[in-house]
Amino acid sequence: MNKELIQKLISLSLEARKNAYVPYSNFAVGAAVLFEEDSIVTGCNIENASYGATNCAERTAIFKGISEGKRHIKAVAISGGLKGESPTEFAYPCGICRQVINEFADEGCVIIVAKSLDDYEVTSIEEVLPHGFKGDQIK
Ligand code: THU
Repeated sequence: MNKELIQKLISLSLEARKNAYVPYSNFAVGAAVLFEEDSIVTGCNIENASYGATNCAERTAIFKGISEGKRHIKAVAISGGLKGESPTEFAYPCGICRQVINEFADEGCVIIVAKSLDDYEVTSIEEVLPHGFKGDQIK
């Protein structure tokens, strides 16, 4: 994946982060998901007074895309940190989000975690979710 596309995804994740609804944790996360045919869908985390009803940024973006008929994820960019501040750490996806990415991940699906346009790490779904469970195992 070329640097220009990586930076575009990071930039969109940082933009989406601004919409995070995080009155409880104050930890704002943004995600940009690259689907097939190079369409990009963004999302933020959405918290709830009943904490378990919170939705992560990655799943917000993925569910938006899936509900529009998309099915194949090529890359996910994530940025997270205290609301209103630039990220100071790499926000790797939580376990549930890794499982949801895995459900729709194309071969070679890339995970990008970013603090800024020039400070990021690139990994893969296989690396963050080895031996992942997929539907073909229950057929
Ligand atoms: N969060 C995400 O949005 N994505 C992750 O992968 C990890 C956690 C959110 C959920 C909650 O709103 C806040 O970060 C603190 O856990």
